[in-house]
Amino acid sequence: MKILNFGSLNIDYVYNVDHILVGGETLAATGRNVYPGGKGLNQSVAFARADADVWHAGAIGKEDGQILFDVLQISGVNTEFLLKLEGIPSGHTFIQVDKKGQNCILVHGGSNQEIKQSHVDETLKYFSTGDYLILQNEINDIDYLIKAGHEKGMKVVLNPSPIDDSIYSLPLDLVDFFLVNEIEAAQLVEGDSFEELLENFVLKYPHSHVVMTVGSQGSYYAHQKERAHFGIFDVPVVDTTAAGDTFTGYFISSFAEGLSPQQSLEIASAASSIAVSRAGASSSIPTIKEVEQFLAEQ
Ligand code: RIB
Repeated sequence: MKILNFGSLNIDYVYNVDHILVGGETLAATGRNVYPGGKGLNQSVAFARADADVWHAGAIGKEDGQILFDVLQISGVNTEFLLKLEGIPSGHTFIQVDKKGQNCILVHGGSNQEIKQSHVDETLKYFSTGDYLILQNEINDIDYLIKAGHEKGMKVVLNPSPIDDSIYSLPLDLVDFFLVNEIEAAQLVEGDSFEELLENFVLKYPHSHVVMTVGSQGSYYAHQKERAHFGIFDVPVVDTTAAGDTFTGYFISSFAEGLSPQQSLEIASAASSIAVSRAGASSSIPTIKEVEQFLAEQ
């Protein structure tokens, strides 16, 4: 079983700030770092550090994207379906991180929005029934990818993040796994509590698995009549960037390896707890050995 992540790669320009800026305000940053990130890249790194066999497909700028290529290679992600585009800037972000580790992110799509259907077709030739296709909402042609992956019999995993109105025009009934936070869930189904959101998800997408992360309340899983819930680990929060991506990579790799939903939630929670206790995006994602050690210490 192989994992193909067709997703974004961003150069993250991260600014430490006293508080997140409000409209019209100018503020001096207390620090600045440049990290490889992007929801797609972070998830590929999480898969690789969880010991999964993962390929990252997508596009970076030829002139500025080396930092993104390098981190995938060093992490053990297969990169033969990653294109380097001439004259187009890589995707990049401006991220503010406040003293409590909370962030806000401004994204410029750049090369992430230059995906061609021929690139999708060529890449999917190397994957088959039962392989996983991982998608987020930071590249173009997601609807084409969902349909093409489904037609091949791949298991389509969608993390609809960052969520916007484009999500409603996607063929969501073809998605096998939704990885959502409570805000994304509330935009896809109705419900006044986490439990209600989850039940309505199952009613609306009866064949899909749903994993919903809800911050300090932990995470939930639902599929048909099966349910699981896991709380959180109490760790000092340094930077929440890539916590959700770490969760996605570790949940799906654990589940695909045959672990139960409950075990998969626990491992994914441990991995993302370690990620929030460190600075940066992909650089904060732990290896499986670090996750096992963390769990053994609890
Ligand atoms: O999920 C975190 C990621 O979101 C960051 O690395 C940033 O690039 C944005 O895509």
